[in-house]
Amino acid sequence: MNIKKVCIVGSGMMGSGIAQVSAQAGLSVSLCDISLQMLEKARNSIKSSLTKFAEKGKIKEDVNTVMSRIKTSTDYEIADADLVIEAVFEDIKLKHEVLKKISSLASAKTIIASNTSAIPISRLAVATSCPEQFLGLHFFSPVPMMMTVEVIRGLSTTEKVLQFGADFVRLVGKEPLLVHRDIAGFVLNRINMLTNIEAARLVEQGVATPEDIDKGVRLAFGRKMGPFETTDMVGLDVQLMAYTNVYEEEKEMRFYPPSILRQKVYAGHLGRKTGKGWYEYNPDGTRKK
Ligand SMILES: NC(=O)c1ccc[n+]([C@@H]2O[C@H](COP(=O)([O-])OP(=O)(O)OC[C@H]3O[C@@H](n4cnc5c(N)ncnc54)[C@H](O)[C@@H]3O)[C@@H](O)[C@H]2O)c1
Repeated sequence: MNIKKVCIVGSGMMGSGIAQVSAQAGLSVSLCDISLQMLEKARNSIKSSLTKFAEKGKIKEDVNTVMSRIKTSTDYEIADADLVIEAVFEDIKLKHEVLKKISSLASAKTIIASNTSAIPISRLAVATSCPEQFLGLHFFSPVPMMMTVEVIRGLSTTEKVLQFGADFVRLVGKEPLLVHRDIAGFVLNRINMLTNIEAARLVEQGVATPEDIDKGVRLAFGRKMGPFETTDMVGLDVQLMAYTNVYEEEKEMRFYPPSILRQKVYAGHLGRKTGKGWYEYNPDGTRKK
C-alpha cells in the first residue's frame, strides 16, 4: 500500500499507542495534541513500551530508530499526511471541532479516520469536507498488545477507503475486523458493553464484589482481565461516555449506564489515572492491597 506518513491527533492512551505501532511499521508519524504535557507523557510511555518489547526481543529495530520516526507537535502537522487518525476525548462536539480543523488542513487525497469507541462514523463524517474519504479505525487498548482493529464503513465511505483502512491495519501488524454497517458501539464494544454493564449492576445490587467478579471472569472465561480491572485501565469516564453515546443512539435500556458508574465518575473516581476507580492505586500505578 502507498502510505508513508500518518498523523495522529490526540496523544492520550490511544493516540500514543497508535503512534507507536505506526512507527514500528516504519511509517513517519506526526503526533499532535493541544497539551505539551500530554505529548511529553506520550513520548515517555512510547519509549518505555518499546524498551520492554526490545528487552523481550520482540522488536527488530533499536528503540531510538523507532522513536526517531515520531515527531510531536501542538500544531496539527497534516498537510503531507496520507492518513490522519483522530483520537481526542469521546465527545461528539469536540470531535466535530477537531475533524473540521483536520479537514481544512488536509490535502484532497488524505484519508481521515476516527478512533471513536462508539459514535456512529456517519455522525462524525459530516464535520469533514469529504465523507467518502472518512472511516472508523477502532483500535483496542493497550494498542501495542491488542491484535485486532475494527474498520468501520460510514454511510458515504467508499470501498477503496475501507480497503485502505484494512491494509493500514495489516501494515501495523493487526487483523482488521470489517464493520459493514455504521451502528453505535460497532461490534466488539456492543458485546463487551453489555457484560460490563451487567457486572456493574451485580455490584450495585450487592450480589458480588468487583474482586470476585473479576476473578470469576478470569478463571471461568479465560480472560486476562475482569470487567472492573479493564474499566479501571480504560477510564470510567471514557466508558460512561461510550455507554451514553450508544444509549442516546439506540434508546435501549440495556445500554443505559448503571447509576454506580455514573456516581463514581461524578466523584472523580476515574480509574488508574486518578488513583481510584473500582479499585485503589498507589502513585506508581500498582494496585493497593
Ligand atoms: N481508552 C480506551 O481504552 C479506548 C479504547 C478504544 C477507543 N478509545 C477512544 O479513543 C479516543 C481517545 O481516548 P483515550 O483513552 O486515548 O483518551 P485520553 O483522555 O487518554 O486522550 C485524549 C487526548 O486528546 C487530547 N485533546 C483534547 N482536545 C484536543 C484537541 N482539540 N486537539 C488535539 N488534542 C486534543 C487531550 O489533551 C488528550 O491527550 C476516544 O474517542 C475513545 O473513546 C478509547
